[in-house]
Amino acid sequence: MLTSHDIRQRFLDFFAKRGHAILPSASLVPENDPSVLFNTAGMQPLVPYLMGQKHPLGTRLASAQKCVRTGDIEEVGNHKNLTFFEMLGNWSLGDYFKEDAIKWSYEFLTSKEEGLGFDPARLYITVFEGDEDAPRDLEAVEIWKKYIPENRIYFLPKKNNWWSPGDNGPCGPDTEMFYDVTPNGLGDLTHDEYVAADDDGRVVEIWNDVFMEYEKRDGAVVGKLAQKNVDTGSGLERMTMVVQGKSNVYETDLFSSIMEVIGKISDERYDERSARIIADHIKSSAMLIADGVRPSNKDQGYILRRLIRRALVKIRPLVGSFAHPLVQRVVGISNNNVTTEFDYAGSQSVFAEILSEIIQVYKDTEYLKGKEALIFQVIFDEETKFRKGLDNGFKEIEKGNIDPFDLFTTYGFPIELTEEIALTKNITIDRKKFDEQMAEHQAKSRAGAEQKFKGGLANTNDTTVKLHTAHHLLLAALQEVLGKEVKQKGSNITEERLRIDFNFDRKVLPEELAKIEALVNGWIAEGLSVTRREMPKAEAEALGAEMEFGAKYPDIVSVYEISPSTSSGQTHSVSLEFCGGPHVANTSEIGHFKIQKEEASSAGIRRIKATIE
Ligand code: ALA
Repeated sequence: MLTSHDIRQRFLDFFAKRGHAILPSASLVPENDPSVLFNTAGMQPLVPYLMGQKHPLGTRLASAQKCVRTGDIEEVGNHKNLTFFEMLGNWSLGDYFKEDAIKWSYEFLTSKEEGLGFDPARLYITVFEGDEDAPRDLEAVEIWKKYIPENRIYFLPKKNNWWSPGDNGPCGPDTEMFYDVTPNGLGDLTHDEYVAADDDGRVVEIWNDVFMEYEKRDGAVVGKLAQKNVDTGSGLERMTMVVQGKSNVYETDLFSSIMEVIGKISDERYDERSARIIADHIKSSAMLIADGVRPSNKDQGYILRRLIRRALVKIRPLVGSFAHPLVQRVVGISNNNVTTEFDYAGSQSVFAEILSEIIQVYKDTEYLKGKEALIFQVIFDEETKFRKGLDNGFKEIEKGNIDPFDLFTTYGFPIELTEEIALTKNITIDRKKFDEQMAEHQAKSRAGAEQKFKGGLANTNDTTVKLHTAHHLLLAALQEVLGKEVKQKGSNITEERLRIDFNFDRKVLPEELAKIEALVNGWIAEGLSVTRREMPKAEAEALGAEMEFGAKYPDIVSVYEISPSTSSGQTHSVSLEFCGGPHVANTSEIGHFKIQKEEASSAGIRRIKATIE
């Protein structure tokens, strides 16, 4: 039977043989993209290249990319939801398109020699049914028909067969491959039967080929990219589950030995779901720590803290309670039987043995190498902090205050623990009230997190809006100082700063940067008005409005003009750009503009980062 390691290796070898450069997994924390906390797909580190930048390793790439998704953290413990997973993927950056992408997916899935040896009679295919943004994907169907009977190819809407990493960026219709995991095989299925089989897990999605030739802005598909890309993704854990004939990911070799360790250290209160949550969360925590994340109260650090603490809450009933004479800690772990290569003896972490096994499972990858001791330390430190919080909470309780919501938010007390203690003190907890307070609390933090996750132009807080207008002024100033040929090649705006990529074949000199900065600040001081107009695309083009490179626009476009107010008698506008907004109404609202950095982005493309104060 193929191991998960074999599957990963076979995938990379298969695509290397077909001219793909193999990329090492990028860090879980995106390097140049503050709009997302973690890489959530293999394509995330490749966004600039899918948008048109040249990749130094060419136009065919493949990788096994570490990913973290915390969107359905509450679902973890079900048969296929995980927070950490690896995504196998191959990419064409304007190179091959549907024909080869589909052929190679099929070959890899079915070839016994080079691939996974799946039974073609158990494969089902879905393709995009078409809508106002893109046509029904008959081309993909024609190609699939060479390999799969037409009655096993199903059309589905955008909800199912369109993929994009968020509200802004590359996107496109996709074709997805599903495998029949029932003992006897389902045979031919009608459209409705197929949908039902997907719903109840009798067929499992194993691969997604996205034909990324469109671009999304502010959540709307705005047109085609300059190049036709392929972006594929297959979750290694899920693929391994199917290859190894298991009904859940925790039974695959990526988890089974970790689950055994948890079973071994648990007492009679062992609970499968809790064990899965611990295995998942501690694995993700180890991966995040190895990639430089540390527990904290914000961003990536907050997620890590939450993962460790959720796992702690789950392990407590399994291996005994901890932290206070009221709830005595009985850690059922012995450090004497060190069975694995990494010597964790001496670590007091309640997760020591589990961590050690996680390190063992990934010994053939670079993911955790050299970081073992650090991982133990960071997790143990966080456990200690959590216990201290609990200790302080216990002091409150001894004073007679048992407010479960306050205990949770201030000291990190899980409700189950509060209930347990209340019981010993003959106090009744109003669980309903707590649940309501929590729901409200979560709605608030979710709203905050959504803002954070949206990033880019979708993020419309004050600073972002100001930066957005400053961005238009900067482009105009670049053209005035460096020449009209300068065009925007990419942009990104966060709450902290703006970033613009533009074509220019040398470094911008300090005196030029000073001039550019002064021009922008001059326009800000002038208090120019910013107005939005809708007009036919042809008219906007005739007016010379700046367009984003590679984008296709609808017939009626929105154009932003920055100019002296008409009452001043001047007619010359400073900036005219195709843009959906939003913007400030007057440049005087922006504040002081400052260039932070000018650097090369790729060959012939420069990048400027700037802030406002
Ligand atoms: N990027 C695509 C996905 O994550 C392949 O499904």
